[in-house]
Amino acid sequence: MTRESWRTRVGFILAAVGSAVGLGNIWRFPWMTAENGGSAFLAVYLGIILLVGVPGLLAEFVIGRRSQRNPAGALFRLSGSKSWGAVGLFGVVTALALLSFYSVVGGWIFRYFLASFTGSYFGSPGAYFEGINFGVEALGFHAAFLGVTAFIVLGGVRDGIEKATKVMMPAILALLVALAGWAITQPGADAGLAFYLDFDAAYLRANLLDVIGAAAGQALFTLSLGAGTMITYASYLGDDRDLAVDGSTIAVLNTGVGVLAGLVVFPLLFTTFGELTGPAAAGGGPGALFVSIAGAFAQLPLGGVIAVAFFGVVSLAALSSSISMLEIPVAYLVDEHGVSRRTATLSLASVILFTGGANALNPALFDFVASTLVDLMLTAGLVGFLLFVGWVLGADALAEYATGAGARSRSVGPAWLWSVRTILPLFLLGTLAVNLLALAGVSL
Ligand code: PHE
Repeated sequence: MTRESWRTRVGFILAAVGSAVGLGNIWRFPWMTAENGGSAFLAVYLGIILLVGVPGLLAEFVIGRRSQRNPAGALFRLSGSKSWGAVGLFGVVTALALLSFYSVVGGWIFRYFLASFTGSYFGSPGAYFEGINFGVEALGFHAAFLGVTAFIVLGGVRDGIEKATKVMMPAILALLVALAGWAITQPGADAGLAFYLDFDAAYLRANLLDVIGAAAGQALFTLSLGAGTMITYASYLGDDRDLAVDGSTIAVLNTGVGVLAGLVVFPLLFTTFGELTGPAAAGGGPGALFVSIAGAFAQLPLGGVIAVAFFGVVSLAALSSSISMLEIPVAYLVDEHGVSRRTATLSLASVILFTGGANALNPALFDFVASTLVDLMLTAGLVGFLLFVGWVLGADALAEYATGAGARSRSVGPAWLWSVRTILPLFLLGTLAVNLLALAGVSL
């Protein structure tokens, strides 16, 4: 049996952008931004995307394309060491943990999409969210979201993932541009734009470590780094691609969509409430987007139509990311255990039905997994991948990077490898330490 591969270059890029663009951009990014000083956070976040995210993306691409394997198989095969294989397997487990909470949020999005047609949450958005977020109904919507995800993954790389993301991504972009154009021309939008875009140096100076820690976690999450998604997607890639060009394209598109989502969310929050209030001001929590944005829709003319469009976009974005999470363990079972795609997908979906179900029923567990656990796992995972590329692959990594690369991409290759060996793992270990200390209750 020959291994699957992408049909086109655009297909690969759209699938990778589809993985990157998701609830991370639309649900988590505005929440993190609101909690960490707005523009100050945005500036640090953009810097980390460029200096850590793009090189990290290239590291995962190099591992994936060189090995043509899932993360666990890739690290094992390229090194011959079981311990490195275990580092890859950690990524596979991270993907399962991710999908276990992501699918619950995806279920909320599905529900808000449907409820937007009747406007059932318009009356009291806060109470509505509190009523649906956890419990048996949340479990049902989680199952529905997971079911659609599994259905696409069952179709395989070309007929499932590539086809679906090729339709979804242009639709997401078009709708978001239209929504942003509308939102920033609403009366009162200026205050939202100022909070979002004016650089606040004083806030940054006072909260530097916290902002850096949150921005780094968010940068990894939004670029789908640290679980091996990009290893897996690049493993379906041929040798003729310029990885640096593809990686930069993906990062730019993903960041563009995130910034665009901010242009929708912040003006809307400020036009309705004058300033950040309620859960958004209190630091958000998982309900921030739902309560505030849904509250805004409720008060705006044509709010119902806009709400349907908005939650429609977010549903598509969430699905194109959740399929990339499920694809990691599916590729692992297919590659390493000779299981059929069908059996792998269905059995993994059954497992996540339970693990995600636990999150849907237990708010405290959900909070821990969604905000703390996955940040730590993604950071630790990416440190492992970087050290692997820098110290185990070394010159081979540079050769893989250069394959298919143009002159300009080649010229930055050595600097890339140097940063992957040294400064990037150190930086990430630093943020990991800060986050672990925070978890232990030590504040710096
Ligand atoms: N990047 C995705 C999002 O922003 C989430 C994700 C993280 C997907 C890690 C795969 C792996 O929604």
